[in-house]
Amino acid sequence: MPKITIVFASQDGQTASIARQIALHLVNYSIEVEVINLAAGPPDGAVLDESDVVVVAAAIRYGHPLATAERFLSCNAARLVQMPLVMLSINLTARKPDKRSYETSVYLRKWVQRHKLAPVLTASIAGKLDYPNYRWFDRVMIQLIMRMTEGPTDPTTCIEFTDWQQVNDLADEIATLV
Ligand SMILES: Cc1cc2nc3c(=O)[nH]c(=O)nc-3n(C[C@H](O)[C@H](O)[C@H](O)COP(=O)(O)O)c2cc1C
Repeated sequence: MPKITIVFASQDGQTASIARQIALHLVNYSIEVEVINLAAGPPDGAVLDESDVVVVAAAIRYGHPLATAERFLSCNAARLVQMPLVMLSINLTARKPDKRSYETSVYLRKWVQRHKLAPVLTASIAGKLDYPNYRWFDRVMIQLIMRMTEGPTDPTTCIEFTDWQQVNDLADEIATLV
């Protein structure tokens, strides 16, 4: 049975939910799926070697993917460049449908280019805005970003912007890669 490994870096849980939804959707196919949370430590090389496709999903914080995802890609770039790789960037800019592609997402483009990777599939996926759970500094900073990009600034706002149809469609596309 072909195998897909989904490796994710999540701070507040939304990227974890997206990774798990992709895995859940892949149950519709005869594919073995392993989901790895980088917070619990990086997978060893053997896990990647036995995978037919690797999916990396990382949350964006202040313009950059989480450090665990960056470390994972830096350490495994030589291996990942030789296999079908999917890179998913989770952020709030992608709440706008026209900011979800490689061409329109600066986060995606910089990410791929920085690691000199050649993913077969990329996407920017909207995450969650959760002001009540942010620390004061983060809340003020995100409000500033939202003001500049015409998003919600009410500090009581908690909105899941994730387009689950996009996530399921991506899972279908990922399934075609094995
Ligand atoms: C401190 C902080 C900084 C963030 N910086 C950005 C950013 O620079 N650009 C963006 O589009 N989204 C930004 N976000 C939104 C997150 O990417 C979004 O909430 C995502 O769902 C986080 O994923 P996670 O729940 O897996 O950690 C930020 C969120 C927080 C809390």
